[in-house]
Amino acid sequence: MSKIIKSINKTVRAKTAKHFREHGVIVPTFKQLIHPETIPAEIKNKLKKIGLWDVNPLNLFRITWKNDIKTGLYGDVNYIEIPREITGVKPRVIGLIGKYFPTGAHKVGAAFGCLVPRIVSGEFDPTKHKAVWPSTGNYCRGGAFDSAIMGCTGIAILPEGMSKERFEWLKKIGAKVIATPGTESNVKEIYDKCNELARDPINFIFNQFAEFGNTIFHYNVTGRAIQEVFEKQLANKKSRLSAFISATGSAGTIASGDYLKKLHPQLKIVAAEALQCPTLLQNGFGEHRIEGIGDKHVPWIHNVRNTDAISAVNDDDCVRLVRLFNEKCGIDFLTSRGVKKEQLKNLSLLGISGICNLLSCIKTAKYYEMNEDDVIFTIFTDSMEMYSSRVAEYNKDQGKYSEVQAAEDFGAGLISQNIDHYAELSYYDRKRIHNLKYFTWIEQQGKESKELNAQWDPEYWRSIQEDEIDYFDKLITEFNKEVGLK
Ligand SMILES: Cc1ncc(COP(=O)(O)O)c(C=O)c1O
Repeated sequence: MSKIIKSINKTVRAKTAKHFREHGVIVPTFKQLIHPETIPAEIKNKLKKIGLWDVNPLNLFRITWKNDIKTGLYGDVNYIEIPREITGVKPRVIGLIGKYFPTGAHKVGAAFGCLVPRIVSGEFDPTKHKAVWPSTGNYCRGGAFDSAIMGCTGIAILPEGMSKERFEWLKKIGAKVIATPGTESNVKEIYDKCNELARDPINFIFNQFAEFGNTIFHYNVTGRAIQEVFEKQLANKKSRLSAFISATGSAGTIASGDYLKKLHPQLKIVAAEALQCPTLLQNGFGEHRIEGIGDKHVPWIHNVRNTDAISAVNDDDCVRLVRLFNEKCGIDFLTSRGVKKEQLKNLSLLGISGICNLLSCIKTAKYYEMNEDDVIFTIFTDSMEMYSSRVAEYNKDQGKYSEVQAAEDFGAGLISQNIDHYAELSYYDRKRIHNLKYFTWIEQQGKESKELNAQWDPEYWRSIQEDEIDYFDKLITEFNKEVGLK
């Protein structure tokens, strides 16, 4: 029995199948997103002529880490290694690239994971419902993209203080946008808006912070992608996959660490957050500038018991590196430190939360005294394409970038990273964080304490992460037959 799909509404499903037939929508299976080489040749041929960001239904088949942006088809997992001249630490630091997903961010995968079970079960009716996508970052962009593809109304909810680029793109794609008060860490205000909208049954809320489709996508698709990179490209007799780092917004991405830890029991799963809002580290609160990672709550879908450490990163250091990595004087400075041209080109593949992840990799390497045989993985969730307006703002506020500033940023932002604000979690530290869920989810959001208690059992997570996906794929295959497109 599925824990996620409780019943199937065949009438709505048939209506959706007809709607998808008219809009040319075929739903990829999770297996196809993991192994895009198995996608039928007819679809691959058509994809060659479709741009990565085009609102075209076949772009659902590009919700994978393996898009080859040169051919428009598929290749190996997209990743980059950050050189030691930048990290200053011995382990290899590798990040998967989110930019090469449609919408330029990996969150379109989470949106797909939350949406698909509701489509194939007939719970969500795209001919009637409006799809509501609460987000602090890119999730609502992914959801708006999926909604446009499905030919239904998408409502993006995000804090008013998020980057201009996000709002502009949402408008362009035809999404209805609701800007909630505050900035990055104002997640409660987003929930309040969702609860208000949920009173009207026409609105269907895809709450990424509580929907296990998000977890299932990352455990199965992202986790396997990382394992593939490690196995194919990096593993040798001595190498160890030693850490997986993810700044948690909805805590979907961090579930790929759960997949990896099963294969590499020594692996440390590290949750990063902003020092200015140290919720996991200190039950703290505050405003911060690491866009996409929210906070002041623990997401329902965070498997806290499996998290080994918390790394709180100063958002000032992220801003320093945004400038160092993207201003000409910064690039010149890094060249003088021996960073190669092709490595410098890659640095704009790190958005602000990607930089936060990189800094947490450095802190983790130092905390655990890792050496050359250790490999640390993280995710570069989106790229600077989403934040060029921020670079202009920093210039306005802090003055034009200079070589002196670059040297200062390199020293203060990179070399001086240390193990401050870093906590290895004991059994009871984890329990403290787990218990924090009570105040958001039981008191405010209508979840039951019985289920919260059940979340302390590792089997709760295993069954969700591993037992649902074959059932989803079976339903997707049946549904596509009903749609009848090839
Ligand atoms: C830019 C960015 N970074 C990081 C995250 C956090 O990822 P997750 O929600 O999977 O924890 C998000 C989530 O929206 C994001 O948009």
